[in-house]
Amino acid sequence: MNPDQLGTQLPTLTGDGVMLRWLTDADLPALEAIFADPQVVRYMATEPLNTRAAAEQYLQSIREGFLEGSLYQWGIECDGEIVGTCTLAAIDRQNRHAQIGFALKRQYWGQGLTLKAVPAVIEFAFARLQLHRIGADADPRNIASIRVLEKLGFQREGLLRECYFHMGEIQDALLFGLLQRDWSASACRHNDEPRSV
Ligand SMILES: CC(C)(COP(=O)(O)OP(=O)(O)OC[C@H]1O[C@@H](n2cnc3c(N)ncnc32)[C@H](O)[C@@H]1OP(=O)(O)O)[C@@H](O)C(=O)NCCC(=O)NCCS
Repeated sequence: MNPDQLGTQLPTLTGDGVMLRWLTDADLPALEAIFADPQVVRYMATEPLNTRAAAEQYLQSIREGFLEGSLYQWGIECDGEIVGTCTLAAIDRQNRHAQIGFALKRQYWGQGLTLKAVPAVIEFAFARLQLHRIGADADPRNIASIRVLEKLGFQREGLLRECYFHMGEIQDALLFGLLQRDWSASACRHNDEPRSV
């Protein structure tokens, strides 16, 4: 049973022209199309999903994470198609903290789509889950991810040297953090409407 009383699946969130929704079996081909691409997973803690069985296992781990309340992964739907995902992982209720991650199918890179989707998940994390802090990490070479995090207001907090071995290479990780009070203050500064969850 989900510890946040979310029922049987994640709620649908609304971004700026995109929808974030629960992933179903019907989305397996889309998940495979996104995550079979080695360029998409190059800096992610995920091996390429090269087979339907690997995609099924991936979806199963998303479902288990939801039931445990440790990992919430939404599909990003644009033009009626799942084109990416956004994830809250390592959800820690004791310390009111989680890690955020995101990925898009390569054809959708460079269009500002992530910035249209991720704020809805951040808002969910702070308003619905009452988290205090969201962390993220990014390989220093992953310029697009770093740009997205900084535009969202995440601050650089340090560098973990050679902390991952992934895709046959040792990788560094830049650490980022976003505090709830900084997120609220930036929403006020930009004179946004309150974002509903
Ligand atoms: C990270 C990712 C989600 C970014 O999403 P996006 O919607 O394409 O990002 P944007 O279009 O807002 O681009 C962000 C910035 O990076 C720049 N950029 C995009 N792709 C780039 C690339 N390959 N190299 C350098 N800069 C790039 C954009 O020009 C933009 O720059 P600006 O801030 O000066 O305008 C996407 O690149 C992706 O799916 N990468 C693979 C998965 C991944 O690494 N996820 C992050 C780890 S959790």
